[in-house]
Amino acid sequence: MRIPIIAGNWKMHNIAEEAVKLVNELKAEVRNTDVKVVICCPFTVLAEVKKAVEGSNIKLGAQNMHWEDKGAYTGEISADMLKDIGVEYVIIGHSERRQYFNETDETVNKKVRKALEKELLPILCVGETLEEREADRTYEVVKSQTLKALENITDEEMKSIVVAYEPVWAIGTGKTASPEDANAVIAYIREVIKEKYGEDISELVPIQYGGSVKAANATEIMNQEDIDGALVGGASLKAEEFLAIVNF
Ligand code: G3P
Repeated sequence: MRIPIIAGNWKMHNIAEEAVKLVNELKAEVRNTDVKVVICCPFTVLAEVKKAVEGSNIKLGAQNMHWEDKGAYTGEISADMLKDIGVEYVIIGHSERRQYFNETDETVNKKVRKALEKELLPILCVGETLEEREADRTYEVVKSQTLKALENITDEEMKSIVVAYEPVWAIGTGKTASPEDANAVIAYIREVIKEKYGEDISELVPIQYGGSVKAANATEIMNQEDIDGALVGGASLKAEEFLAIVNF
């Protein structure tokens, strides 16, 4: 039985005062939840949020990392730097990084390997663009992204990875994939993982859905057989909405 993971991806939102306020609104309310709750916040507030979540069951995540340990990479953050402030999860391959910051399947794979080497838990994002969906290439794209991200990843390492299926056309648009459609693609991703790692491991891997998850649609999405959580953007910025999703 996979434990659902609800992760909030704050993206480029919240200075320290706002971040601590939001976390403090969440902590008590998620104390008795049986899902894993992760907050993925901007680098600048990670240390403050780490302090704020102490003693709670909220886990800390980052939204990106570099694959090198150190070097002349202006503006980048290493896995060691994330570990140094108690980060546990890291989103890798988000479509916005692929779209705006030249993230490729190759760099995604390098980051996944480095994250696992440093004992961070990757949240690996895959998903098709509207153009790819309209060209009926969804399954081809998510299979390719998944397999390329997992090159040289061992069976044991695969057990530490969370996958997030995020159809790009549903991100920030208010358009949500139908629960049935999202479940079908996630079931396919699980089949792809099964072909590479076998059924025992594929059945262990949590696969989230992301893309306009809201309080109003969370229950229907989360009740789908193959969906094991959500990667939540906009709705994670409002305590009441995010809590409604956590308590789906
Ligand atoms: O990583 C989650 C994010 O891409 C989804 O954003 O605002 O559609 O929930 P949103």
